[in-house]
Amino acid sequence: MKILTHGFEITYDKSIQGNIPLLLIHGFPLDRTLWAEQIRGLDAHVIAPDLRGFGESAFGESATPSDAVTIDTYADDLHALLDTLNLQNVVVAGLSMGGYIALAVYRKYPQTVRGLILANTKAGADSAEGKKGRDDNAALAREKGAAAVGEKMMPKMLTPKTATERPWLSAAVSAMMARQSVNGVVAALMAMRDRPDSTPMLAQISVPTLIITGAEDTLIPPKESEAMREGIRGSKLVVIPNVAHLSNVEQPDAFNRAVNDFLKSL
Ligand code: MLT
Repeated sequence: MKILTHGFEITYDKSIQGNIPLLLIHGFPLDRTLWAEQIRGLDAHVIAPDLRGFGESAFGESATPSDAVTIDTYADDLHALLDTLNLQNVVVAGLSMGGYIALAVYRKYPQTVRGLILANTKAGADSAEGKKGRDDNAALAREKGAAAVGEKMMPKMLTPKTATERPWLSAAVSAMMARQSVNGVVAALMAMRDRPDSTPMLAQISVPTLIITGAEDTLIPPKESEAMREGIRGSKLVVIPNVAHLSNVEQPDAFNRAVNDFLKSL
């Protein structure tokens, strides 16, 4: 589905298998198809958009020039999308970069958020070394295309066992990363590089929060999820065994069970 929100077009998938509105925010450098198994398996009113410049969503240059895109820009886009769809009291879920954006949605629009799901993500900002890595990846994307960034990240997305035993999953994730636009990828890298540290806001989160991660995530290790669980009062942490960074792709049944149990508890 496509919808015009504050001046440009956002593409999203939708499924209605429950009443609670649930926004699913994909990670980097991915798109809404990341959530295919959640669209099928979650008991909610699911909205899974492509972030600006990813998948089939417009780059939105007319709304915000590419060099001015921040994590808050994506949060504003998603808030405008929810507003246009007339959805309130939304559970906001994000994986990895999607989690950085989910925290920004909560910081800017707490009245919209009924609950948070933070998957394979962290609250902290980039280290100096991490920021340099963003610049290197932006140069790589400009020089060799988005696929080159994807190739570099691929070994951390799924466990080696899954990559060997289910090669079609690796192929689908590689293809998803390879088809993203260079402009979208570079804008997101700069937005992640410059994102604020969300650690101080954790103590202020007052909505039910579910944290999910993979026991073998080396891109964002489980200790980051444990730190968020300690920081967010009443939050629950689910660590899925034998899973790396894309926990929802690698073990969709375990991921969906955790989310459906959480939705039921609201
Ligand atoms: C993601 O999976 O969204 C990104 O790898 C997160 C990051 O690079 O910080």
